[in-house]
Amino acid sequence: LNGIIIAIDGPAAAGKSTIAKKVAQKLGFTYIDTGAMYRALTHKAIRSDINMDSDKDLGDLLLHTEILLIPKNGGQAVLIDGVDCSDEIRSQEVTSNVSKVAAHTTVRKLMIEKQRALAEGTGVVMDGRDIGTAVLPAAELKIFMTASVDERAERRFQENEKRGIHSSLSQLKEEIENRDRADSEREISPLKMADDAILVDTTSMSIDEVADKLIELAEKRM
Ligand code: C5P
Repeated sequence: LNGIIIAIDGPAAAGKSTIAKKVAQKLGFTYIDTGAMYRALTHKAIRSDINMDSDKDLGDLLLHTEILLIPKNGGQAVLIDGVDCSDEIRSQEVTSNVSKVAAHTTVRKLMIEKQRALAEGTGVVMDGRDIGTAVLPAAELKIFMTASVDERAERRFQENEKRGIHSSLSQLKEEIENRDRADSEREISPLKMADDAILVDTTSMSIDEVADKLIELAEKRM
């Protein structure tokens, strides 16, 4: 079978990474979580006391940061300068600052270069906000995955509960809406459905149903 590129974009907490992981595993492709890369830079910026309003400072920081995504227990571990920060990059502080960091020109330019390099010469499932529109516009399969904001907040709530984190449903909903707004309204490669993407609304679909649908679409293109 040929390796193809599958781009999955969509708003926050739509299930992109859960599905992307499953599809990649099933097809034997590499899974690349681009949100984790922006989160990693944000985490390091907070820790290093870098001004998150400065494109230049963030760009310099990124040039001096090694971000590695490595397969781990069917998922993906995120190493920052050799240290596993997979949990830290999901913190509330990172989540509420990441959209600001991700809106900067130099940051996006450098991230896109890294992401394209990661996708070279292999079958890939990459998820994010601008994969089908900016990072890999020639992707063989583009999915725009969404779900109602109530459903997305509920899923994130349940996910947190499973990890032993108690959260407020209304706060989660507000955080998701704020992040979607920031990501959609930014000037450089905003969150937007590509013209040739397939819209998948997962509101009333199970994880397996969504994964099966994507695999069927992918197989037609291989
Ligand atoms: O996917 P995840 O929710 O972890 O992404 C975190 C944030 O990273 C997004 O809200 C967005 O601001 C940024 N991001 C981006 N472009 C991508 C992936 C993520 O701007 N391709």
